[in-house]
Amino acid sequence: MAKEKQVFYCKECGYESAKWLGQCPGCHSWNAFVEEKITVGAQKHSSGKKNVVAPTSILEVTTADESRIKTNIGELDRVLGGGIVKGSLVLVGGDPGIGKSTLLLQMCRNLVETSCGVLYVSGEESPSQIKMRAERLGTFNKDMMLLCDNDMDNVSASIQKSKADVVVIDSIQTMLVEDISSAPGTVTQVREVTARLMQLAKTHDVAIFIVGHVTKEGTVAGPRTLEHMVDSVLYFEGDNSNGFRILRGVKNRFGSTNEIGVFTMTEEGLKEVDNPSQMMLNGRPVGVPGSVVVSSIEGTRPILVELQTLVCQTNFNMPRRTSVGVDYNRVNLIMAVLEKRAGLNLWGYDAYVSVAGGMRISDPAIDLGIACAISSGFKNKPIGDDVMIVGEIGLAGEIRGVSSALQRVKEAAKMGFKTCIIPKSNYDKAMDNLDVKIIGVSSLTEALSLI
Ligand code: TYD
Ligand code: MG
Repeated sequence: MAKEKQVFYCKECGYESAKWLGQCPGCHSWNAFVEEKITVGAQKHSSGKKNVVAPTSILEVTTADESRIKTNIGELDRVLGGGIVKGSLVLVGGDPGIGKSTLLLQMCRNLVETSCGVLYVSGEESPSQIKMRAERLGTFNKDMMLLCDNDMDNVSASIQKSKADVVVIDSIQTMLVEDISSAPGTVTQVREVTARLMQLAKTHDVAIFIVGHVTKEGTVAGPRTLEHMVDSVLYFEGDNSNGFRILRGVKNRFGSTNEIGVFTMTEEGLKEVDNPSQMMLNGRPVGVPGSVVVSSIEGTRPILVELQTLVCQTNFNMPRRTSVGVDYNRVNLIMAVLEKRAGLNLWGYDAYVSVAGGMRISDPAIDLGIACAISSGFKNKPIGDDVMIVGEIGLAGEIRGVSSALQRVKEAAKMGFKTCIIPKSNYDKAMDNLDVKIIGVSSLTEALSLI
């Protein structure tokens, strides 16, 4: 007998609970639990014999040469790990309006050009709306198939009939499985739809891209609830104001993670950025205290970015610390090290740290850059415009080695920087051949005395 049961899900991460909770124990977000009714015992116990699959030895498993379909959007191919893998399920998440549909439509256009079967399923827009957008993006081939439906049974039948190699589902939150009583976009629905798509992808060897909106309000389940089910997860970042769009791979079963692709939004859709460092440094102020250029490894390539800080006196007892694009706790820790080990009396000063260009950086190699920028802002002395700084800071005030130092220095040399301050332990003979002056430092005070 099927029985209806009431459960609560976190719409951010999908955490399941029998009762409502204020804060999610899984992802610590507040007020994210929503009530859903699920039917238990209905789908199970189907009659008939089950197919029993016997285990095989790993040596007997044959692998077909992993063939990838190139999308001809270089930055997207890079994030996917060299192209689309057949039979994979890829989740593309991001805020509404960031450009998910645009990117995938552009991808579809390129794919049909290379005579690859494509089906674009939209539950959000009508065919004429899609056509209007497509016209802005360029000319489309007649093989580009559209389907505007949100019933999962119909979609599933169409995918099987179309024999497409690549399918786009825009968006997962609009798709509906009728056997489930809850509304489209709820955790139960999006999980069930994804599970069905996964099965379709694996049994019919078709690559499926799922669009998932990140929403802050309402009861719509976010893409994080699906991360564990899919093969790859790509997130679109960047704020709407500056036109940058960064596509970051946070999970990839077929390639390296944390790889990024950089785009700009133009009148004719998304354009690739060939030289992200140049883009990030564009419009950099010259000779201003508190500004420094650091290098962050994103996936496999180094990107130069500008860090800006503002340090100003406050009359309040509790100075204010704000960070945009870098970890807040990391900034506090670096400020504590600056006070204790370098004798900078930062108490009584507000400090604001931000990464220019809307990037988010988690590479610890930017520590020394943050410290130098804060010190520069505090002393009101600018750091040279042609200086690039990398290094991780330890609690004792020592400068620790960073990964891929040579690559970072090479990128700085390519971008015309004249001096690189790096950890002493990272010095490499190959750096002498480059047209930059290398200064190795082993402590924070040593680094601060240089700038
Ligand atoms: P869209 O791809 O619809 O976002 P999502 O699917 O992630 O919700 O992007 C829509 C935004 O992009 C919208 O603000 C208009 C803008 N845009 C352009 O600037 N140029 C273009 O050529 C297109 C198609 C969209
Ligand atoms: Mg869209």
